[in-house]
Amino acid sequence: MKIDAPHIPVLLEESVSSLITDLNGIYIDGTLGYAGHSTSILRRLEPEGMLIGLDLNPNAINFAENRLSTISPNYALHLLNFKSFSKVLFDRKIRKIQGFFLDLGLSSALIDEPEYGFSYRNNGPLDMQFDRNGSFSAKDFLQNVSIDNLILTLKKYGEEPNARKIANEIVQCVNQNKMNTTFDLRNAICNVVPERFQVKALSRVFQAIRIKINDEINILKRTMELAIEFLNPGGRLVIISYHSLEDKMVKSFINNKSIKCICPTQLPICCCKVTPKLKKITSKAIVPSKSDIEDNSRARSAKLRVAERI
Ligand SMILES: C[S@@+](CC[C@H](N)C(=O)[O-])C[C@H]1O[C@@H](n2cnc3c(N)ncnc32)[C@H](O)[C@@H]1O
Repeated sequence: MKIDAPHIPVLLEESVSSLITDLNGIYIDGTLGYAGHSTSILRRLEPEGMLIGLDLNPNAINFAENRLSTISPNYALHLLNFKSFSKVLFDRKIRKIQGFFLDLGLSSALIDEPEYGFSYRNNGPLDMQFDRNGSFSAKDFLQNVSIDNLILTLKKYGEEPNARKIANEIVQCVNQNKMNTTFDLRNAICNVVPERFQVKALSRVFQAIRIKINDEINILKRTMELAIEFLNPGGRLVIISYHSLEDKMVKSFINNKSIKCICPTQLPICCCKVTPKLKKITSKAIVPSKSDIEDNSRARSAKLRVAERI
């Protein structure tokens, strides 16, 4: 049965074929979404194989459930933050997995639905939480943040050159009780950024606030650390990221865990006894082809990195 999903999976073939190294292994898709990647994973697995899918969005979980149930019973879906994946393994008495996959960021459905407040293109509440039961929205953050912290957030997570001007304007709007919707935030940004830079500034500021309130960078780092402890030797960590900050983190995590020796170069023999945990499979990130980007403009910033547990 064909189901039209509200999201086109990015780098589908490249990621799934890198992930699966044993057709009877256990795989985690930590960002299940509309099961674009998971559908392809489950289709390939043999009867002993298993897919565990996690997502914080109940609509995504329901959609994925309908989709995957037509393929095979060898899957389990959980409405859960991927940072807590080990709870699922513990409950199921699973000690090792063969692959861990993350397709970070926003699905098209999250961008297009104004109620989630992720996009400056639609007017909606200033929410931006992946967790629908979360209690710290973008509005809460902006109501309570100091100017200095807001500047830091916009610089660190958005690399926004006009961070100071924008932060001042946002805080003024908050003080006048005019910061309740995504269009309020959009207007504040457009008030102080010249027209030709506005689209970039809007993307960067919305991205920075989203990363901050969902604690995305810390969660990603902690999850990668834990995921490699659960991988079988030969098992794979496969991550698609969509902005430079995330990609830099994935890249340096893989580089650091692949280092074979940290001795000073002057030493004639190695005495550090460092044992690498990962082997790099992609020395350069895999990016979508021109035709993939033509078919799906949201794929344009995607970068795929793969590492294998030693
Ligand atoms: C880019 S989409 C994944 C799309 C999916 N690969 C597909 O092909 O349909 C990212 C998904 O991750 C989810 N998500 C983001 N952060 C999460 C987290 N910390 N834990 C669990 N799910 C998360 C979002 O709700 C969204 O559905």
